[in-house]
Amino acid sequence: MKAEILPTDTPDQFQAAVQRAAELLRAGEPVALPTETVYGLAANALDADAVARLYQVKGRPAHNPIIVHVAGVEMARRCVAEWPEAAERLARAFWPGPLTLVLPRSAAIPDVVTAGGPTVGVRWPRHPVMQAVIRACGFPLAAPSANLASRLSPTSAEHVRAQLGERIRLIVDGGSCAVGIESTVLDLTARPPRVLRPGMITAESLAAVLGEVALPDSPAGAANEPLRSPGLLEKHYAPAAPLVLMEWRDEAELYRQLAALAAGRTAPLRVHLLVHTRIPAGTAPAGATSNVTLERVAVIPQDAEAFARALYAELHRCDLSGAELIVVESPPRGPEWRAIADRLRRAAARSLSASGG
Ligand code: TXA
Ligand code: MG
Repeated sequence: MKAEILPTDTPDQFQAAVQRAAELLRAGEPVALPTETVYGLAANALDADAVARLYQVKGRPAHNPIIVHVAGVEMARRCVAEWPEAAERLARAFWPGPLTLVLPRSAAIPDVVTAGGPTVGVRWPRHPVMQAVIRACGFPLAAPSANLASRLSPTSAEHVRAQLGERIRLIVDGGSCAVGIESTVLDLTARPPRVLRPGMITAESLAAVLGEVALPDSPAGAANEPLRSPGLLEKHYAPAAPLVLMEWRDEAELYRQLAALAAGRTAPLRVHLLVHTRIPAGTAPAGATSNVTLERVAVIPQDAEAFARALYAELHRCDLSGAELIVVESPPRGPEWRAIADRLRRAAARSLSASGG
């Protein structure tokens, strides 16, 4: 199987792509679609067999529930057993947009979507292609990110093709994702509501609408509790190359740290660097180790929204160009950087030695 990639640049292309996607989805076939966060691998959320194929295509463990995407509050309400005042207020403030609300599921939602659990995550995405496909189908779409399990989420049609191109029939190209990292997941069944996965809609913004909001469990605490959101497992969202977060005052300190990481190697370590403030000059300072080659330096603006938009594309690029180690300058602190810090921490959860080189 080889995925067809349909563009959406002109009104005719847009209509044709939406029709083709809806046709395959009605037949129970998975289709990769753009959303404003990351690309999703979609299936009819009301068809258990169609959803089961998503787990199969992704190699996703069956205990991880899938977000249901809707095209309006009406459709969201049909997926849930209760639509509390808090959901109504959040939908008014943030939908369509990168916010997933976890609520008690309705009888319409099959077990395979919720991994057998009593709740369902619902989201009204902002991307026009996704909205048009849901409306054309008339049913909600279950859609995890369109990557292989525990790999990096795709933010372009090309990223999807690289991972799933041989496993699905259609990828609709809606351009690069405007948000760039996955939605904020908020558990509205908890008291107070709890952020299960941070995203670009911050806990502070949610609290401005809701009053009190709890932050994600600390990784240490989560280990002792039942898995509330299995997607919060460490080692998710990882590029192929190992990634480390680093801080340095000057280039000499940067190279000292790189040399320590490359110690004992016979060939120079091919390092790719992602920086936002401390941009190194082209040449290594005198006396720097010869055990490290700084192959590429990517500069991402020190602006949380721009950083999130660029991050996965940069990490995908590191993988494609054969980086052996990705070094990321530690992001600034502050609420708007929390989701980025979370994804980077997960990407870094694997050690250099454990990667097998
Ligand atoms: O931005 C996004 O959310 C993207 C786009 C495609 O919408 N989707 C996405 O889906 O990231 P996925 O499957 O890769 O991640 C969904 C996350 C997982 O961490 C999952 O455990 C959690 O949401 N989740 C889904 N349903 C849940 C539920 N009922 N209760 C708790 N967590 C849930
Ligand atoms: Mg995912």
